[in-house]
Amino acid sequence: IEIPIREKNIVLIGFMGVGKTTIGKLVAQKLYRDFIDVDEEIEKIYKIPITQIFKELGEKEFRKFEKEFIVNTCSQTKLKVISLGGGAFLHEEVRNVCLSRCIVIYLDLSWESWKERLPLIIDSRPVLQNKTLEEIEEIFFKRREAYALHNSKICTNDLPPETVADSIVESIK
Ligand code: S3P
Repeated sequence: IEIPIREKNIVLIGFMGVGKTTIGKLVAQKLYRDFIDVDEEIEKIYKIPITQIFKELGEKEFRKFEKEFIVNTCSQTKLKVISLGGGAFLHEEVRNVCLSRCIVIYLDLSWESWKERLPLIIDSRPVLQNKTLEEIEEIFFKRREAYALHNSKICTNDLPPETVADSIVESIK
């Protein structure tokens, strides 16, 4: 039996710094749902920032925990809006659980627009550190292959978060 759209979790995916957290919070408010930002929750559990988790425990450990956390969160019955970290959707298991139980919305941004945000986000994103712009560009386009498995896509270029949130709410009515 197919679950009606209104009874599914909303999962936001997309590259780092695209606005998943900001937009997710707004969508949750508008729909009176709980909001879960996976990175924030992981930081609360470990009591240290993501950068430090990468440094002290390694990316592998972070990815393992991230995957388990998402699978768990998606399996709970209370309806939520969930913002994933930019690398989470690369796990096959995460994709499977999200695509089977949730509406997966991909927030896209052009490389040109995204590049301008890089200085604002680089310090808190271990994946972007010690890389050339060319290397980051390669990750950006490589990641798009995984994000392409979404249920619905919104290009956020130059749109205020409120507008993006409204169109997400509109699309699930
Ligand atoms: C990551 C994205 C980050 C965070 C971690 C790894 C990635 O989340 O999970 O730094 O691999 O893309 P945001 O997408 O919220 O920045």
